[in-house]
Amino acid sequence: MTKAFQIGFGSTETELNIETIPVQGTLPVWLTGDLIRNGPGTFTVGNEHFRHWFDGLAMLHRFSFKSGAISYQNRFLDCDAYREALKENRIKYSEFATDPDFSFLDFLKGIFQSPMTDSAKVNVARIYEKVLALSETSKQVEFDPLTLKSIGGFNYDSRVNRHVTTVHPQFDRTNNSHYNITTRFNRVSRYRILKIGESRQPSLEASIPAKEVSYMHSFGISPNFFILTEFPFLVNPLKILFSNKPFIENYRWKPERGTRIFIVNRKNGSLEKTLVTDPFFAFHHVNAFEKDELLMMDIVCYPDAEVIPSFYLDRIREEKEPLPVGEFRRYTINLADDSIRYDVLGNEGLELPRYDEGELNMSGQYRYVYGVGVNRQNPQSFYNQLVKLDTQTGSNLTWYREGLYPGEAVFIGKPGRTAEDEGVVVSVVLDEDKENSFLLVLDAKNFKELARAEVPHAILFGYHGCFLG
Ligand SMILES: [Fe+2]
Repeated sequence: MTKAFQIGFGSTETELNIETIPVQGTLPVWLTGDLIRNGPGTFTVGNEHFRHWFDGLAMLHRFSFKSGAISYQNRFLDCDAYREALKENRIKYSEFATDPDFSFLDFLKGIFQSPMTDSAKVNVARIYEKVLALSETSKQVEFDPLTLKSIGGFNYDSRVNRHVTTVHPQFDRTNNSHYNITTRFNRVSRYRILKIGESRQPSLEASIPAKEVSYMHSFGISPNFFILTEFPFLVNPLKILFSNKPFIENYRWKPERGTRIFIVNRKNGSLEKTLVTDPFFAFHHVNAFEKDELLMMDIVCYPDAEVIPSFYLDRIREEKEPLPVGEFRRYTINLADDSIRYDVLGNEGLELPRYDEGELNMSGQYRYVYGVGVNRQNPQSFYNQLVKLDTQTGSNLTWYREGLYPGEAVFIGKPGRTAEDEGVVVSVVLDEDKENSFLLVLDAKNFKELARAEVPHAILFGYHGCFLG
């Protein structure tokens, strides 16, 4: 993937706003709305380079569907980290795995630790009327989805400082409320579960103390419980506050601790159970639901946290090993006797899991999951195929084309659908030969291509996005 690497981890030269991009094939007539993608817009500032896929300066992309046509716009996220980088032509803020180099002037000013980034590049979410670019730091950025212009900052947990958050807030449509967790670093640190209800004011639902804190990228929610998975990938909170190493490089894998599962009662915020199971690591919870005394937790797992260094750009470029892909596990937690077991569903590894979250979050009725994966016949150091998993039968469908590198698979349901997978899956695909990207539209049922729409430039390998219908 030498060429794909250079393009997908390079720099976006231009900000475009195109009224109509050419569509090959036929888009469903019902497909109306905006797909907003988030991800890095450049891995280079001046002569400096970011080191890891989770670094880079944020860029938003909007694909708008209307009457069988698509418009496209992309724009760097206007934020402090971006403005400072432009002004000084060097990296100024700490990212996930890259810290700025300090200048002699910084030394004279007594600056030895740089602020955490506000370049919110990881996900997009709508919290009531606000559309937010999401980062794992405390700094989220509200933007206008029509113009991609920044509006202002947003903080889930403004009452505490020195914290991080997940980029995967959960929405419970039964009470029209959003939830997220923050991790506060302190002598006794805390995982804090926040709710944003119709008052728009965040409220604290629960707080769990922790001596060493785990890197958690997401969490689970079921009708009665919050589920926090405390992987044994841990950091001493005081160390991270005064460290001179990039954020994630302070964490250590301590498998002897096992993975702790905190089950929090949603009604009163009490920590109902702390269960310990064999060590594993995950970025993404998928769904969770309950059946009598059983709590099911679907999650994309790895045996350890070695997947994180596999995203260093040097490692991807060297192509020595295929990228590890996650194992889709369904944990069954018996709340009556505290037993835990898991089943692996499907034969294909996957990542960036998506499903019909809008309709089926917390529901045992849900069946299909979509993600990216690595093709077995052509295993590479980055994702190169799409995967559909049927969690009932364990069967998989895949979409793979040599030289094409698809990103997150977002499901968009047909309005009024009677089957769960009646709709489309859309993915931004990098074309190595053509050196540009296109939006791929698949029939979600059979993974057959319905349409593709090219943009005139390459879109860097991104993370998450959302569809605003
Ligand atoms: Fe994620």
